[in-house]
Amino acid sequence: MRVSENIAAWNTRRREYDGRSIGFVPTMGALHHGHGSLVKRCREENDIVVVSIFVNPTQFNDPSDLDRYPRTMESDLQNLEALGADEVFFPTQADMYPHGYRFRVEPDASTHFMEGAHRPGFLAGVMTVVLKLLNLVRADRAYFGEKDYQQLRTVRDMVEDFFVATEIVACTTVREESGLAASSRNALLSPESKKTAPMLYRALTESADCETARALLVKEGFRVDYVEEHWDRRFAAGSLGKVRLIDNVPLATPIDANPEQGNDTRRG
Ligand code: PAJ
Repeated sequence: MRVSENIAAWNTRRREYDGRSIGFVPTMGALHHGHGSLVKRCREENDIVVVSIFVNPTQFNDPSDLDRYPRTMESDLQNLEALGADEVFFPTQADMYPHGYRFRVEPDASTHFMEGAHRPGFLAGVMTVVLKLLNLVRADRAYFGEKDYQQLRTVRDMVEDFFVATEIVACTTVREESGLAASSRNALLSPESKKTAPMLYRALTESADCETARALLVKEGFRVDYVEEHWDRRFAAGSLGKVRLIDNVPLATPIDANPEQGNDTRRG
C-alpha cells in the first residue's frame, strides 16, 4: 500500500494504472467497519483500490464540529493495509483548495430538505470536494454508503449532470449489534449517550409513523432535527449532547432487529 500526501505524487502514481479498473472510496478518515465494508466491496470489484482521507472543511457548517472531528491516521492506515487497499490519497487542505473556496458545486433548491436544510452549505461542500476527488482519481467506480443517503443521491445526480465517467455504487449501512449505524462520530458520544444512541435506529424501525418516532426520540433525550420519509425510506437526524447522528431505513424491509415483535408496525 502506498500513501500519496499531495496531488503531484498521486498524479505520478495514477499514470501507472492506466488500463486497469480503479475503484475509489472517498472518506474523512476515523475509519470504522462501515468504511471497511465499502473498501471490501471495492476490493472485490476492481483491480486497484484507492481510498482518500480528507477532512473536508467546506462541508462543516459548525467550526467546532470540524475541530472535534476524530483524526486517527495511524490506525486508519493499518486498517486499510489489512483490507488490501493499494493507494491512500491523503491530500492537504492547500492541495484541495489552492485558491480557497473559489468555485463550488451548489445543488439547487430541490435538495433543501433534511441535511440540505439543516446543515447550510453541507451538500455544496460535499459535492465540490467529491467532484475534485473524482477528477483526480478518475476511477471506474466510486463507493458511497446508504448511511448518508441524501449525500449518495445528490452525488449520483451531480455525476450525471457533469458527465463524470465514474459509476456511483451504493453500499448498505453497517450497524453495531445494537442497531446503531457505525459512524466516526460515535467515538465522541459520552458513555451515557452511547446507551441512548441505538434508540435512533429503534425509533426509525419500530414506530408506526414519523410523529411517533419523533416523540420517542424526544423522550429519550434527543434534540430532533427531523424525522421524514422520502424515496420509500424513513430518515432521522438528532443530537445527543454535542454529537449529531443521522440514520435511515428502507420502509419495505421487515423488522428483524426485534424478533419478539411479530410484524411490521411501521405503517400503523
Ligand atoms: P465519511 O463520513 O468518512 O464517510 C465515507 C463513506 O463511508 C461515505 O460514503 C459514507 O456514507 C460511508 N459510511 C459511513 N458510515 C457507514 C456505515 N455505517 N455503513 C455504510 N457506509 C458508511 O461521507 C463522507 O465521509 C464525506 O462526506 C465524503 C463523501 C468523504 C466527502 O468529504
